[in-house]
Amino acid sequence: MNLNEIIRGRRSVRAYEDRSVPEEVIKELIDLGIQAPSASRMQPWSFVVVEDKELMREWSDRTKELLLSQMDDNAYLKPYQAMMENKKFNIFHKAPCLLLIYGDPISPAFVVDCSLAAQNIMLAAFDQGLGSCWIGFAVHIGDTPEMKHRLGVPDSYRLVAPLVLGYPRGQWPRIERREPIIFNWPK
Ligand SMILES: Cc1cc2nc3c(=O)[nH]c(=O)nc-3n(C[C@H](O)[C@H](O)[C@H](O)COP(=O)(O)O)c2cc1C
Repeated sequence: MNLNEIIRGRRSVRAYEDRSVPEEVIKELIDLGIQAPSASRMQPWSFVVVEDKELMREWSDRTKELLLSQMDDNAYLKPYQAMMENKKFNIFHKAPCLLLIYGDPISPAFVVDCSLAAQNIMLAAFDQGLGSCWIGFAVHIGDTPEMKHRLGVPDSYRLVAPLVLGYPRGQWPRIERREPIIFNWPK
């Protein structure tokens, strides 16, 4: 695949085969992630890899409970209510691997830099026959002092990009993009 095909072909994958991603592949993806640019060359990213299914299940259950408790105060969450009430729904889509990118706020651009690394990883994963999905819902629990302590992450770090990875089950439809708005193009 060339880069154009990789960029156009990547999809958020929400069903995975029950087989783990080899450790060398995960390490290679992290290495490709850190080739991203970073403001002032600060490289404020650090990583956690979770392959513990029980931990992911607990994290998912706690997230659903938390988000359900916030439904009434947050209109953004309403469309997700039925999903969060569904006992079978797992916010990590039962993926075998959760790759977390934590950023060091010592860099004012840590969110941007970690997001650039995340995009490298999602594109590289697709190139290697893997599916990925950014799981924004995971930030609520992943950024708590308790979870950071459990994962060995310094308290000052912030969770930017929780990415699931695995071998995709099924085909994933393309989400149509609206025409880009180009406000101006002075020449
Ligand atoms: C910041 C961010 C948070 C996201 N959070 C979730 C999430 O919690 N669960 C999920 O299934 N998809 C999540 N997604 C994936 C988007 O829904 C997906 O990128 C979008 O629908 C476009 O589909 P595509 O990635 O296949 O092009 C997230 C994406 C981004 C960039």
